[in-house]
Amino acid sequence: MSEIIRIAVDGPSGAGKSTIARAIAEKFSIDYIDTGAMYRAVGYKLLQKGISLDDRRAVASMLAETEIDFRNGNIFLDGENINDKIRTEEISRQASDCSALGIVREKLTEQQQKMGEKKSVVMDGRDIGTVVFPDAEFKFFITASAEERARRRYKELTEKGEKVTYEKVLADIRQRDYNDTTRKINPLKKAEDAVEIDTTEMSIEEVIDYICKEMKK
Ligand code: DC
Repeated sequence: MSEIIRIAVDGPSGAGKSTIARAIAEKFSIDYIDTGAMYRAVGYKLLQKGISLDDRRAVASMLAETEIDFRNGNIFLDGENINDKIRTEEISRQASDCSALGIVREKLTEQQQKMGEKKSVVMDGRDIGTVVFPDAEFKFFITASAEERARRRYKELTEKGEKVTYEKVLADIRQRDYNDTTRKINPLKKAEDAVEIDTTEMSIEEVIDYICKEMKK
C-alpha cells in the first residue's frame, strides 16, 4: 500500500471495534491506534493523582505534563506501560467522564491527527470519522444491541475472574452509551458517510470479511 489511508472504526462500547480494528491493521500491515486507551490513560492518571474533574486548572496542567504513546501495540503513559491497568470498570467510568471535557478531547484529538498524518492507520473510537479524520478514506460504524454487547463483556470479565453480574454489566453499558451519545462535545454519532455494520448476529470473522469487501469496492 503506497498512499496513506486512514480507516475510522467508530461505535459504542463493547461492539467489538478493537478486535476488528486490530485484525484489519494486521491484514493491511498498518498501525492500529486504540483511541479509547488514550482516554483511559488520562482517566487513570487523574485517578492516580487524585485530581477532580471539576478542577479544570489542575486537569489542564496535568495534561500539559502528560505523554501518551503506543509501542508494539502497548500504550505508554509517561514512559510506563499501562496496558494491564486501564481495563477495569473503574477506569472505564473515569475515561467516559473525562472524555466529556473539552481540554481532554482537544489534546487527544490533536495527537491522534498527528499519528495519522504521515502513515496509514486504523483508528478506533467514537469520533474518528466525524472529528479526528472527517476525510478518512474508509469509515465504519460498528454497532450491536446493548444486550449482546453486555453478554460479550460479561463473558470476557467472568473469564478473567472478575465477580460481576450480567445486569450490572448491562446497566454500565447503557450508562456509558448515554454518556457517550449525549455529551456536548463531539458525542458518539455515525458519520453520514460511514458504513454501518450491526454485529449483533455476526461473528468477528464475518465482520472482517464484510469490511475487506467494502474496501475493495
Ligand atoms: O473504547 P473504550 O471503551 O476503551 O473508550 C473509553 C472511553 O473513552 C469511552 O467511554 C468513550 C471515550 N472515548 C471517546 O470519547 N472518544 C474516543 N475517540 C474514544 C473513546
